[in-house]
Amino acid sequence: MILVTGGAGFIGANFVLDWLAQSDEAVINLDKLTYAGNLENLASLQGDPRQVFVRGDIGDAALVGRLLAKHRPRAVVNFAAESHVDRSIHGPEDFIQTNIVGTFHLLEAVRAYWSGLADTEKNSFRFLHVSTDEVYGSLAKDDPAFSETHRYEPNSPYSASKAASDHLVRAYHHTYGLPVLTTNCSNNYGPYHFPEKLIPLMIVNALAGKPLPVYGDGQQVRDWLYVRDHCSAIRSVLAKGRLGEVYNVGGWNEKANLDIVHTICTLLDELRPRADGKSYREQIAFVTDRPGHDRRYAIDARKIERELGWKPAETFDTGIRKTVQWYLDNQGWVSHVQSGDYRNWVEKNYAGRA
Ligand code: NAD
Ligand code: TYD
Repeated sequence: MILVTGGAGFIGANFVLDWLAQSDEAVINLDKLTYAGNLENLASLQGDPRQVFVRGDIGDAALVGRLLAKHRPRAVVNFAAESHVDRSIHGPEDFIQTNIVGTFHLLEAVRAYWSGLADTEKNSFRFLHVSTDEVYGSLAKDDPAFSETHRYEPNSPYSASKAASDHLVRAYHHTYGLPVLTTNCSNNYGPYHFPEKLIPLMIVNALAGKPLPVYGDGQQVRDWLYVRDHCSAIRSVLAKGRLGEVYNVGGWNEKANLDIVHTICTLLDELRPRADGKSYREQIAFVTDRPGHDRRYAIDARKIERELGWKPAETFDTGIRKTVQWYLDNQGWVSHVQSGDYRNWVEKNYAGRA
């Protein structure tokens, strides 16, 4: 079996669902269930003995040690993290605790377990760390996309904490020989995406008749990948990646934020037209920019394509249509995640913006 951390969050839940749709290898799912963790994402696995869910913290080395000793996984895939840039600006401490200190304790527990394995199990064991392109900082308009050797230049507390965790993972390979792999992926979108991030926020606000808050001039560029393509990339790296290597994952889909919002409005105009016949674009509102806002991210994905033969299955057009349709079909999920905590966050992040 494999141990997945953060498997009740957006990408982790998609990964667990895809993994068990394709194989019978069981998953231990360790998740703290922060505001971003949601067992409803895994509802289709209820009663399925192939998933063992454990509520707990990656920073609890004793708990992780017990889970490793009991279940003896052949791999750990680490998704658990605080993941939202705006929250890291309002309160960086949780990011330091989970992304840096938590990853450190997780690595220590995994190292102790791995050291005690017999040679064959030791050689085949893998620790895969899921990271982000944001560690590389911001690109100017005509700069080449981020390759794996691009220097680290994180600009937000979130990206700085992820950068620190990447460095720890690297150091555990070089110092202790821990068999690690790291993936740095671009922005994901798709089902179960928590509506604090750009794409799901715009869909749910549009449907609720609320403003669509575009930061600054809306010309910041992100490189978007459908979440299930990220999951297939992680499976490829886990199966075939070279030890100690970093793989950048992206879909060659650079888009300006305003273009994304326009695309969502156009799809909703077609799939769920407004009662007054006007376009959802009427709801767009330009608001005060995010402090330290990175202008552009872009991933050079040639290494994973060349070495592992990985390619995304979705284009942006097919992926965004599926995503908008998923939110239309899962309004119950949306209303459940918009709890009191969610409303407090929206108030905190948007009320002070002109
Ligand atoms: P998310 O915020 O939706 O989910 C994070 C999950 O981790 C939640 O289920 C949460 O409960 C859990 N968690 C948080 N702290 C924990 C702790 N201390 N111990 C155990 N579990 C804990 O995040 P996501 O968007 O699914 O991202 C998953 C990973 O992928 C993160 O490491 C993130 O940095 C990385 N990543 C995300 C994106 C993206 O676009 N979302 C892109 C590239 C990389
Ligand atoms: P986000 O989904 O938070 O991802 P990240 O900051 O990790 O790239 O934001 C994506 C882009 O959308 C980013 O440039 C900030 C912008 N954005 C808005 O313009 N308005 C919003 O309300 C949000 C949440 C994001």
